[in-house]
Amino acid sequence: MEKIGEGKTKEVFLLDEDHVLLKFKDTVTAGDGAKADVILGKGVLNAQTSAIIFRLLEREGISTHYVGMKDDRTMIAKKLKMIPVEVVLRNIATGSIVKRLPINEGEIFDPPIVEFFLKDDARHDPLLNYHHMRYLKLMEEGEAKEIEQIMFKVNEVLRRVVTNMKLSLYDFKLEFGRFNGRLMIGDEISLDSMRVRDPESGRILDKDLYRRGQPLEVVKASYSEFFNRLTQVV
Ligand code: C5P
Repeated sequence: MEKIGEGKTKEVFLLDEDHVLLKFKDTVTAGDGAKADVILGKGVLNAQTSAIIFRLLEREGISTHYVGMKDDRTMIAKKLKMIPVEVVLRNIATGSIVKRLPINEGEIFDPPIVEFFLKDDARHDPLLNYHHMRYLKLMEEGEAKEIEQIMFKVNEVLRRVVTNMKLSLYDFKLEFGRFNGRLMIGDEISLDSMRVRDPESGRILDKDLYRRGQPLEVVKASYSEFFNRLTQVV
């Protein structure tokens, strides 16, 4: 099968004119690829976690690229024309926003804040506004607003699930693409792309463990625990 792309954590193969296979690798990276390691089994965990969440979103009427699973680490997905933008929704302040703006760790955003970033590791994924996105021919303002509404809907679904797991959803990142001109969620939704903490102890369960230098076994155990808890609430 023809490999048509490869990112830091996934390989993309062409299945047919309208479909691709996304093979999740065991790599974990941070700092725009500056730090990278292998955690055996992580690809399977992220593929499975993403599949459960995509199915949940589809059930709620939210369009995603998810079609099914080929094997435990390989997703069958619609072949989208991806928009090279990362869209982040934040419920609670942490990460890049507390470095960029006079906002303190832990401040609650109600309503949540949505941000757009250019996918460009060499430039460290700069923040974009509607004007930048129009000029760079990434998307028009109307489409950006449509994406914001999808982000709010996804947040409601994800928050409900994460709350049922007795955890708290700080933020998450999605990527979008077009299929026959229609906007759809692509890529993945896993602990690599969302921040989840225990509200009582403040314990971190997501990729921040890796970003902060925790041992790889600790990262894997947490991803595995999250997946198991997820399967118990869906
Ligand atoms: O680093 P920052 O605070 O902007 O990240 C916001 C959210 O987006 C986090 O959940 C993080 O895991 C996710 N993210 C991502 N890929 C990136 C940057 C951020 O999944 N390249």
